[in-house]
Amino acid sequence: MKTAIIGTGYVGLTTGVALAFLGHEVTCLDVDAHKVEELKKGKSPIYEPHLDDLMKAASQNLRFTVDPVEALKNAEVIFIAVGTPSLPDGNPNLSYLKSAAQSIGHYISSPFVVIVNKSTVPIGSGNWVESLVRDAYRAQNVDKKSEFVVASNPEFLREGSALSDMLYADRVVVGSDETRALDVLRKLYQPLLEQTFEAPSFLPRPEGFRAVHFLTSDLQSAELIKYAANAFLALKISFINEIAELSEKVGADIHHVARGIGLDSRIGNRFLQAGIGWGGSCFGKDTAALISTGKEYGLSMPITQAARDVNARQRARMIEILMNELKILKGRKIGILGLAFKPFTDDLRDAPAYELASKLVERGAKVVGYDPVAMTRAKREWSDLELEYAENAHSVFSEADAVLLVTEWPEFKMLPYSECAKLMKNKFILDGRGQMDKEAMKNAGIKLITLGKSST
Ligand code: UDX
Repeated sequence: MKTAIIGTGYVGLTTGVALAFLGHEVTCLDVDAHKVEELKKGKSPIYEPHLDDLMKAASQNLRFTVDPVEALKNAEVIFIAVGTPSLPDGNPNLSYLKSAAQSIGHYISSPFVVIVNKSTVPIGSGNWVESLVRDAYRAQNVDKKSEFVVASNPEFLREGSALSDMLYADRVVVGSDETRALDVLRKLYQPLLEQTFEAPSFLPRPEGFRAVHFLTSDLQSAELIKYAANAFLALKISFINEIAELSEKVGADIHHVARGIGLDSRIGNRFLQAGIGWGGSCFGKDTAALISTGKEYGLSMPITQAARDVNARQRARMIEILMNELKILKGRKIGILGLAFKPFTDDLRDAPAYELASKLVERGAKVVGYDPVAMTRAKREWSDLELEYAENAHSVFSEADAVLLVTEWPEFKMLPYSECAKLMKNKFILDGRGQMDKEAMKNAGIKLITLGKSST
């Protein structure tokens, strides 16, 4: 099918590349000419494992452009995947969505077009997009006739594993008030739903994986599914972090506790990794938006609010523990292992490392950070932050009074800790991700405190 994608951020690009790989003719539209030039050369502007490889495999079906006519003119399905960043009041900024809807209205010309909202938008946005498209379409005053319907198709991609999350999804959720739109989208996703495509060698199909669940609903329900899913995942993490703090007090080990409750299939073992809490572009933004939508209807959302409060507290606790250990932060050298909000991505949005580093700098410490892939971006995006960048993980330990593990890159677990210890001024590691091996630390003579584990 002729498909257009508006916006080549994480969601747009992953969706576009995957659909092209599945055999559709995809044109990705973006206003950023430099980005489009790079994409045309096959270079992905973001770090996402295997995205370059899949782009290459799909290149025959994949175009990039800044020209809305080229992208939208004959499109049968148009995905809107523009950013909806949070405004200071917690509501998402919808200006990019608005201009995307208006260009669609200006340029569509196929007899029947399905406009799919892939961006996370406030509940009810589908109707709003439809009215914007309609107004722009009417304003053209041409005789050609296009019919269009708006649908919602939320994404559930985790950065760092976005491509397998897309190709081997738990489910595809599609909401629309018109069956015709649902039928078009079922057809679009067919190779994925039935898993009839040949799996790329670099993204092998999980064993026994045969089909993807296709869930259809009305527009509002699909929009709410996205928020409810992210809020639930966020509160699962905050819940385990709340229990983790109690574990520290009573001398329990949160990793045993999490395993013990996770083996109950009603609870499930995923998203129970205790630590510094969640960051990233979704959980903070979506929980804020959910609360703000509730407020519009006079509804308080105490559970979602509590998930946010606990998460903020996890970051504050890292500083508290550090102060307790070092007493004075002024003049101390603190190393940070990991800058991005999670491993295998260079995304720095709402990354705990930023907040920690700023608070430490504010208190007079010298902070040195290292991340295997996010340093280039950090230098650019965190130019206001007085953070020194280490050349490798090793150098973070040099003369350090403490090292904080903030992002759980596997390579951080493998460091030669006996050697690292020799470089440290004060042999102390605060593990915010529950990754460090107690025995290895003991053998290296390093004092280790892990969030959620009693430090005795
Ligand atoms: C999330 C959702 O998972 C995805 O479905 C959604 O559409 C976009 O937002 P993402 O933000 O890329 O994806 O990453 P995710 O793997 O969900 O992790 C989010 C944050 O939670 C990270 O900071 C991670 O370190 C943290 N986390 C995750 C935990 O602290 N504990 C866990 O058990 C899991």
